[in-house]
Amino acid sequence: MKLDQAMQERRSIRGFLDKPVPRELLEEIIALANRAPSSMNTQPWHLHVLSGEPLEKVRQGNTERMLAGVTPSREIEDYAAYQGEHRKRQIEIAVQLFEAMGIERHDAERRQDWVMRGFRQFDAPVSVVVCFDRDLLGNTIAHFDTGAMTYGLVLAAWSKGLGAVINGQGIMQSPVVREVAGIPEDQVILTCVALGWPDEDFVANAVVSRRRPVENVTRFVGFDD
Ligand SMILES: Cc1cc2nc3c(=O)[nH]c(=O)nc-3n(C[C@H](O)[C@H](O)[C@H](O)COP(=O)(O)O)c2cc1C
Repeated sequence: MKLDQAMQERRSIRGFLDKPVPRELLEEIIALANRAPSSMNTQPWHLHVLSGEPLEKVRQGNTERMLAGVTPSREIEDYAAYQGEHRKRQIEIAVQLFEAMGIERHDAERRQDWVMRGFRQFDAPVSVVVCFDRDLLGNTIAHFDTGAMTYGLVLAAWSKGLGAVINGQGIMQSPVVREVAGIPEDQVILTCVALGWPDEDFVANAVVSRRRPVENVTRFVGFDD
């Protein structure tokens, strides 16, 4: 698949077939993502690829803690609730997804069920826990570098016919993930990526999120026109 096709067609996948992903294919994808650029070539990232029983334990731990009302805890600084234009865009994608799924605005039960799916990492057969070196915790460039690698990961997955969603919800109960996955203390959990073979019948997988037009995100300075 051509790069521009993958970049244009990629979208977040939140429904997966119950079919394992071969380890060799994951290694291939990670090898591509691992070519990401980083500040001074520091390569601060570490990936922990979970499947099978450990992933089930993470899902279970996340679910139990969320249902018990345990306050989510991430290892990176949390952001306050989005406001203004950011909030509008957040609502827009939620509305698109709920419409696709036929979840009514006032259907609290199905909305809650959707949220819980996120904490279960959308029942994907694989979860890649994305970490970076703790001694760079205060260095925002390490977040940038690790983010660049993560986008490479989802693009590479897409180019191989796999689907993925970068899934902050999956690590919102980070102590569970840390313990089950055995994350070393010198690494910080940034996010995770739920990954697997897309379920073509899962309607939310067809949702194409909107983007601002290029002219609204770009200024050209020093060009003729
Ligand atoms: C850092 C980050 C965290 C995300 N966390 C979640 C999440 O917890 N749950 C979810 O459904 N999607 C999550 N997403 C996916 C975004 O909602 C998605 O990328 C965005 O709506 C644009 O849609 P697209 O990926 O289909 O283009 C996350 C994306 C990023 C980059």
